[in-house]
Amino acid sequence: MTADNGARYGRMDVFLHWFIGIALLAEIAFGFLLDDIAPRGTPARTGVINLHKSVGVVLGVLIAARLLWRMRHPAPPWPASVPAWQQRAAHWMHRALGACMVIMPLGGYLGSNFSKYGVRFFGLALAPWGPDLPGVYSFFIAVHDITAYVFTALIAVHVGAAVKHALVDRDAVFSRMLPRGWAGRYGRWRTGDPARKGHA
Ligand code: HEM
Ligand code: HEM
Repeated sequence: MTADNGARYGRMDVFLHWFIGIALLAEIAFGFLLDDIAPRGTPARTGVINLHKSVGVVLGVLIAARLLWRMRHPAPPWPASVPAWQQRAAHWMHRALGACMVIMPLGGYLGSNFSKYGVRFFGLALAPWGPDLPGVYSFFIAVHDITAYVFTALIAVHVGAAVKHALVDRDAVFSRMLPRGWAGRYGRWRTGDPARKGHA
């Protein structure tokens, strides 16, 4: 078996990964900066928090679409150059990222519906479907907040691992998640062929 089996993620996987991934990074940063951009009690707060909620709801829908797509289109098999323990670690890491991707928008959305403020979706006031229960609101928002920290840590490890594959291992793991044209441009990353790494 060659080190690179040539298998790669499909066009839609690649698009959804990068589009949602970059939007998520922006939404996480936006969430952490909410209090700096518009401190609580200031007039700007309502507009800013509702922009965060609106973007979050759109992301939630895209994430659901991505997960459904993924359930119907399994990930490509790993290049043989990736040790079994790393395959297991990546498998569980991807599951944990997937769980965080679901919990984040869901926690925010559920919490907001147990508050009298509800969600103003890009200016359209959606009446909350739940009663105004501050305890329930706080619970879901605490889940939202704690998951945000766990998610950030997992993403840091994930990006670190991806960069290591690209720059140190120089195997196919990074390039198989790039658009096809780019993967070709970074050809030496396409394969675990030792000759290309200068080891031969
Ligand atoms: C994937 C989507 C989302 C991400 C990545 C995200 C991320 C974050 C982050 C990082 C924070 C700051 C947490 C902290 O300061 O500890 C935050 C706060 C908040 N988010 Fe989200 N969020 C998302 C979706 C939503 C949605 C859909 C809603 C509601 C509909 C929402 C409502 C809130 C609220 C109300 C806060 C402020 C909580 C507070 O007062 O401390 N978020 N979000
Ligand atoms: C911006 C920096 C990022 C880089 C460089 C990056 C890189 C990669 C690469 C190379 C893969 C393919 C691994 C493989 O061969 O299986 C991958 C997969 C994945 N990435 Fe990222 N990623 C980034 C951001 C994110 C973010 C923010 C998320 C959010 C959760 C994320 C979630 C995932 C998931 C869930 C998979 C597994 C794909 C699947 O099985 O459908 N990535 N990433």
